Amino acid sequence: MTARVFLNGQWLPPAEARVSVMDRGFLFGDGVYEVIPVYSRRPFRLEQHLQRLQKSLDGIQLANPHGMAEWAGFVAQLAGEAEWEDQSIYIQVTRGPMALRNHAFPKEVRPTSVILAEPMTTPPASQREQGIAAVSAADIRWLRCDLKATSLLANCLLRQMAVAAGCVETVLFRDGFLTEGSASSIFVVKDGVLLAPIQNHLMLPGITYDVILELAASHGLRHEVRDVTEAETRSADELWMCSSTKEVLPIVSLDGRRVGAGGTPGPVFAAMYAWYQEFKSTVMRG
Ligand code: PDD
Repeated sequence: MTARVFLNGQWLPPAEARVSVMDRGFLFGDGVYEVIPVYSRRPFRLEQHLQRLQKSLDGIQLANPHGMAEWAGFVAQLAGEAEWEDQSIYIQVTRGPMALRNHAFPKEVRPTSVILAEPMTTPPASQREQGIAAVSAADIRWLRCDLKATSLLANCLLRQMAVAAGCVETVLFRDGFLTEGSASSIFVVKDGVLLAPIQNHLMLPGITYDVILELAASHGLRHEVRDVTEAETRSADELWMCSSTKEVLPIVSLDGRRVGAGGTPGPVFAAMYAWYQEFKSTVMRG
């Protein structure tokens, strides 16, 4: 972690950044968060991340303790002083402490806000070159997956299923349709067309998902945003997972079965990966 973390308006050494055991984030998971990738000390898609933070806060009826410019300033400060060039910056805002344990909101809310940086560990080249394995599971989460809430127990259990099976991600299906991964967005490629599930209350509006669709549009890759069935996912030519920290990775096996004909990363993935890296470097050059 960084030498300093930001907690409620103060920059503190991590050991001194303490939160009450009565914090609703701790007791109820009553909070929201963001994970912002930073490349060469430049935050990637900062505005979009901060807008999504605002939407998550609105969704849980919690006033934003900081303005957009203020958040951007904190992020810039951390990005500038952390010891790593590439970082992932974590923001969390909870509904703060309460006097007695009570599910209902306190009358006077004093939100807890935290920002810290960690080194960015992009996936090893082997995962990109050989692809990764995934399992699938029923999406057991709640019906507001569009909010980036800190109450992530279901996501943790679902991700652990993948890890226990020696895999990287768990692909989720709800009522016969693809939603997303336990901590990623999922894309399907079929007959050269990129298929993306519709962003609704059943999935997080991924920032990387948006980048990928923008790149598909600007490079003329055919794409459809629509409901994607479990059957389409299982018979995909290519399957990808993407997130701010994983960027985009090819899934080459699902529940032990090969994805596509070869069970190797596909040509559409190779093109998208190259476009993504090119886009990143253009943005980072300013
Ligand atoms: N998670 N869906 C879920 C459930 C996620 O947790 C994430 C990212 C995504 C991808 O969103 P984005 O492209 O904006 O990172 C989709 C982050 C990285 C995390 O929880 O650590």
